[in-house]
Amino acid sequence: MLERVQKFISSAGVASRRKAEEFIKSGQVFINGRKAKLGDKVNPKADVVKVYGKIIKAQDEKIYLMMNKPVGYVVSKSDPKHRKTIFDLLPNNLRTKVWNVGRLDADTQGLLILTNDGELTQQLAHPKFEHDKEYEVTTQEEPAESQLEKLRSGVEISTGLTYPAQIKQRDGKLRITIHEGKKRQVRRMVSAVGLTITNLKRIRVNKLNLPKDLPLGNYKVIKKTDIL
Ligand code: URA
Repeated sequence: MLERVQKFISSAGVASRRKAEEFIKSGQVFINGRKAKLGDKVNPKADVVKVYGKIIKAQDEKIYLMMNKPVGYVVSKSDPKHRKTIFDLLPNNLRTKVWNVGRLDADTQGLLILTNDGELTQQLAHPKFEHDKEYEVTTQEEPAESQLEKLRSGVEISTGLTYPAQIKQRDGKLRITIHEGKKRQVRRMVSAVGLTITNLKRIRVNKLNLPKDLPLGNYKVIKKTDIL
C-alpha cells in the first residue's frame, strides 16, 4: 500500500507530520536516492526512505506516555542553557523514540503527553479540535468575583483577546480550562486580571486526567483511547 512520504516518516516515529514536512521542504528526505517532494508516495515495504542520510524503517508499535512534569525541567530535546529536560526523565530506550505533544513552561508542572504517533500529535495540536486543557492555579491573592468573571469572558493579552474560559474554584485554588494554547497563556490571563500565580499545574488534557498517584518526574504508559 502506498502512503504519503510525510505520513510514512511520522508513523515511523521520526518526527511529527509537520516536522516531516519541514524536512522534505528543506531537501533532507530522499526516496530511493531521489530528493522527495511534499506529497510523494512511498511503498513502505519496498522503497528506501532516508531522512538526514538515515534509512527510516516502518514502525507499527505506537507509544503513548503521560508524565508528571516537575518544575525546573524544560520541554525540549536539548536546551542551549543546559537546563534539565523532560527527556532526562525517560530511560534511553524511550528517550529517542517519543516527542512531547504540546509544551509546559519550565516553571509549570503536571500532565505532559509523549508519543511517537504523528497522527495523535496533529489531532491534539490542531485548534479546530478544541481539546480541553485544564490547569490548577494557585494564586497569592484571594480572587475577587469580578476577576473570575473577566477570566470567564475573555481577557486582553498581548496576542489578542482570549476565548471564554471555564473557571471553577476548588480547595482554595482556581481550575481554569482553556482550549487554546498560546505561549504562557494561563500565566498571562491570570496576570492580566491582576492576580499573581504561585503555582501552575496542568491536570487534564481532553479525557486524560493526571492521576493523584503518579509522582512528580515519573511517567506511565497509557493508550491512545485514554486521551481521545
Ligand atoms: N499556560 C501557561 O502559562 N503555561 C503553561 O505551561 C501552560 C499553559
